[in-house]
Amino acid sequence: MSAVDQDIQQPATFAFTDEMMDRAKAIIAKYPEGRQRSATLPLLDLAQRQEGWVSKAAMDTIAEMLDVPPMRVYEVATFYTMYKLKPVGKHHIEVCTNVACMLRGSDEIVGACSDHLGIHVGETTEDGQFSLAEAECLGACVNAPMIQIGDHYYEDLDKDSMKAIIDTLKRGESPKPGSQIGRQTSAPAGGLTSLNTEGFKPEGDS
Ligand code: FES
Repeated sequence: MSAVDQDIQQPATFAFTDEMMDRAKAIIAKYPEGRQRSATLPLLDLAQRQEGWVSKAAMDTIAEMLDVPPMRVYEVATFYTMYKLKPVGKHHIEVCTNVACMLRGSDEIVGACSDHLGIHVGETTEDGQFSLAEAECLGACVNAPMIQIGDHYYEDLDKDSMKAIIDTLKRGESPKPGSQIGRQTSAPAGGLTSLNTEGFKPEGDS
């Protein structure tokens, strides 16, 4: 995979805002002299939080800040799918379609997003508010099917709860992350089946 998609209009320059630069400097300072390249991942994350995606100019700026060849930053940015190398919607919906989620109905979740937003996987709505992507396992298989939007996971989804999440975002509100069926973390959907004696009962569990 190339660090630069030839179809994408790349900005000529990139600069961290003052606030982001302060955060970047604080991150770099955590590493011993000569080990600044360890800050590559968090700096790429900062760039993405600022711009919504990571441009070539951002990668080049980070390489300069860390005093490494640009290729070292391209290698990292292209390896991790969490870095978006082209613009995405304000709400980037990543639907896990790996095995557990597929068996639990991820096709229906992708379909619900497509129907409700009028876009296909890989596309962005005209107003730039939503984009849709498929993701590999996001590590929440026990609450499949699930999606990620920004920093949050939404789990135990079905068609209706998926549409409700989109509608909440459209209203400018924040949907409740986590299980959409009231499951406690990753406990069995029907409630605890072990460690459920008095001594182990979690607060609020009847
Ligand atoms: S398969 Fe979807 S979170 Fe693991």
